[in-house]
Amino acid sequence: MCGIVGYTGTEKAEGVIADSLTLLEYRGYDSAGLALAGSKSRSIDIYKCAGRVSDLRSLLDRNMKLEDREATCGVGHTRWATHGGVTDTNAHPHRVGTVTLVHNGIIENFRELTEEFRLKGKLKSETDTEVVAGVLDSFYAESEDPKKAIVQTLKVIKGTFALVIMFANYPDVIFAVRNVSPIVATQSEQGSMLASDLTALTRFTDRYFVIPEYTIAELHRSALYLWTMDGKPVDPEWCTMDWEKNSSDKGGYPFYMEKEINEQPDSIRKTIESRLKNGLPDFSVDEIDDSIFEDTDNITVAACGTAMHTGLVFQNLARKMLKTEVKVCLASEYMYESPVVGDKTLLIAVSQSGETIDTLQAVKYAKERGARTLGIINVRGSSIARECEGVLFTNAGPEIAVASTKAYTTQLSLLYLVIAKIAMVKGLWDDKKVREFTESLVKTPESVSNVLEEKNDIHIIARNILEARDLFMIGRGLDYAALQEGSLKLKEVSYIHSEAYASGELKHGPIALITQETPVVALATQESLLKKELSNVREVRSRGASVVLFVKEAMSEGLEQEFNIVRLPDLPDEFMVFPAACALQLLAYYVSSDKGFDVDKPRNLAKVVTVE
Ligand code: M6R
Repeated sequence: MCGIVGYTGTEKAEGVIADSLTLLEYRGYDSAGLALAGSKSRSIDIYKCAGRVSDLRSLLDRNMKLEDREATCGVGHTRWATHGGVTDTNAHPHRVGTVTLVHNGIIENFRELTEEFRLKGKLKSETDTEVVAGVLDSFYAESEDPKKAIVQTLKVIKGTFALVIMFANYPDVIFAVRNVSPIVATQSEQGSMLASDLTALTRFTDRYFVIPEYTIAELHRSALYLWTMDGKPVDPEWCTMDWEKNSSDKGGYPFYMEKEINEQPDSIRKTIESRLKNGLPDFSVDEIDDSIFEDTDNITVAACGTAMHTGLVFQNLARKMLKTEVKVCLASEYMYESPVVGDKTLLIAVSQSGETIDTLQAVKYAKERGARTLGIINVRGSSIARECEGVLFTNAGPEIAVASTKAYTTQLSLLYLVIAKIAMVKGLWDDKKVREFTESLVKTPESVSNVLEEKNDIHIIARNILEARDLFMIGRGLDYAALQEGSLKLKEVSYIHSEAYASGELKHGPIALITQETPVVALATQESLLKKELSNVREVRSRGASVVLFVKEAMSEGLEQEFNIVRLPDLPDEFMVFPAACALQLLAYYVSSDKGFDVDKPRNLAKVVTVE
């Protein structure tokens, strides 16, 4: 959480940093700030405020000193508050004495450090970050050596951090160091730059590297150095971005969420295509050995939020199609459930960002106990990707909207390939059956396109639930799994309290909440469950609820006379989750945008969750 950026180079730092913060805003958007090293006065000036990056830009327009407009070095921050409320003073950067810094993470022992380093009188904010600046300044005062002061500070601070630091006597140089919280960096003709994630780096180059943990990065205008804690140079491990340069703009859509929903046919296609050879799943491009699937006798999916919901679909399919039990865990609960883990365990970690701390901890926990680990991840070079034994990368490109959409469907497409792979390597299906399965999978992008073509119908339906305070989503089997995601989508972007319920479970309690004021969204795509599902839908309707039924086209005959229906394009039942997901994403999107909300940045949320 929190977006951080540092730049020293030939361009005007204010523009580079403010633009980067806009791109990183999905990491937190309650306050924003930057520090600029004025090229003439050689001083470091701080501009910061509670609010969005747009508020910071207005502040800069009003108050920025003339010499700072020419500054070519600076650091910036967009905040998701952890310690201290959302105020101008608590916004980053923070300065104590000679040290100005921005921080992503949590310093656990900040109270003890405040006492130990007698910082009380020096601190202006309520943040843990300012304490680090104080500690660093105290050490720097002893030696006037930035790297030595950083090493000494790292020995006393506890917690997770990505720190980007400027020292008053080195106004053209940026130092950075991290533990757990990510920082990626790059060097180009325009200078040296770092940020908490790749989206901010695409401006100048497609080459980047991840700053290793407990390694000091020293950025100069035309060079960049890495140092170990005992002062030895380290060579960066350069990678190349596989994202197109302009993939981080809105492409003409009013919101990233709409753009990303529309990108799904393409991103699913890209994710599947390179992993099919003669209709059979092939993970050789990912260098994943079949043994990871062969040698396992128990599979757990650990993930959070939307990513966890892909696990529910996988679990359902694995039971039905492979007769194999799969556990799905909320990553934040995984280690507290005392899971039985051994060398026959395969832990599948699903994550768009690859930085979610709970998922990362689950991977580490399982690995320490001998499990094999497979990541399904969107961001290359991310912490979870580096921690997992093998990784299948989704080819979704950058996902900027906080509400995850294309990440979900691309993660699903990989999990479907994993189903086919397990069936193959364990000898559960013959090649013909595997090919039939992957043929259906290859058709999913087209079915998502078909839903997108009918999006106006979903927009009209969305208008009927704008005023709802509470809503239920009901379905059975695979539909119930898909609705967990549909319901999360609606609640996070529209602030309507929505609950996904297994249709058959309603009468065991929640049906008491059904009134005329409680709309119900029902999903019916599973032929064998249709009759029972329709009975449940009638039960809620007869209690006054207005119902929208999303139903597979082939099963929809006659239903329009009885219900308000949305037809979903036909695929075999097991694959209907793809068009259903897209339809439910559109529903959530239209409710949010019609209500006039900032769809991409729902309140209290952040795209990358790096605190426990
Ligand atoms: O980056 P990850 O996929 O690990 O993120 C997991 C969740 O935080 C994320 O899916 C979250 O639930 C989204 N806001 C859902 O739209």
